[in-house]
Amino acid sequence: MNAPARIELALAPTPIMKLERLSRRLGVELYMKRDDLTGLLESGNKIRKLEFLVGDALAQGADTLITVGTLQSNCCRAVSAVAARLGLRAVVAVKGERPAAYDGNLLLNRMLGAEVRYLTDEEFKSYPVALDAIAEDVRRHGGKPYIIPESGSNEIGALGYLECAVELAEQISHGAPRFDTIAVTVFSGGSQAGLLMGKQLAGLPSEIVGVPIAFSADHVRGYITDIIGKAVGRFGFAIDVPKTIHLLDGYQGAGRAGVTDAELLLLINLAREEGVMLDPVYTAKAFGGLLDTLQRDPKALGQRVCFIHTGGIFSLFPLRESLTRLLDS
Ligand SMILES: Cc1ncc(COP(=O)(O)O)c(C=O)c1O
Repeated sequence: MNAPARIELALAPTPIMKLERLSRRLGVELYMKRDDLTGLLESGNKIRKLEFLVGDALAQGADTLITVGTLQSNCCRAVSAVAARLGLRAVVAVKGERPAAYDGNLLLNRMLGAEVRYLTDEEFKSYPVALDAIAEDVRRHGGKPYIIPESGSNEIGALGYLECAVELAEQISHGAPRFDTIAVTVFSGGSQAGLLMGKQLAGLPSEIVGVPIAFSADHVRGYITDIIGKAVGRFGFAIDVPKTIHLLDGYQGAGRAGVTDAELLLLINLAREEGVMLDPVYTAKAFGGLLDTLQRDPKALGQRVCFIHTGGIFSLFPLRESLTRLLDS
């Protein structure tokens, strides 16, 4: 077995809390694993992925982390925070133009000392080309670049959520409820791929259910199968590629491109009912899908359901105008 390199970054294990009022209202025991609290600026699922990706980068002698994302990318901000923490250089390529005033994750990237390169829509479509050019530039100046894929999504990044599943299995064996379902937000599917691997390795009893917020169910299933296959090939895990991948489909809406009033209202309502803040781009959409499923049939996912909050709070702030309108109307 080819042991993956890892560095410790996450504040783990993250707590699991019951959403008391919502559970009573829905007639199901609904819990939340607070993976938004993994630390390094509430960096959510990304910090777990970066434990392995940056571990690999350091094992290769890299001194510069390069990554890519949207203007408000959580992954870019997490890479900036980790680079600052470890004394590495970060170059983040983001889709969009430099705004007059920085906000949210973009502001944090700059405050953390990352170099930001702005990509046009065209450049973003073929971003591997842009990333290779940045890496070449770093090499020309004597640096050693390491490219982290968008959302930290490859078979190395997925190991972060393999560890999250192992952590959940340990929490259950130490008294946390035996969840029937563990639900997670899906963009690429890397986090769900990791959970599915960890479920087999750690004997986690719960069904792992993903809620895609951008890509079609077929696309996500293909990606998850591919990543698990690659992880098995690379690291020699004794696991099978799952034959079925359980997704709650139909909640993609406008994907990452748009945030609707309905999603913002859901986020506000949860904040008021339970004192928990979701993010508008990822977790609010997925949690909305989970709630809709449970409202239609409270028993659809069993009696005990745990939603993993994967972070992302900072992209809330650039939406202050829409939020103000909703709060004051
Ligand atoms: C807050 C948040 N939750 C969930 C996800 C989805 O993770 P994955 O790409 O592993 O499916 C992301 C990814 O960008 C994210 O930023």
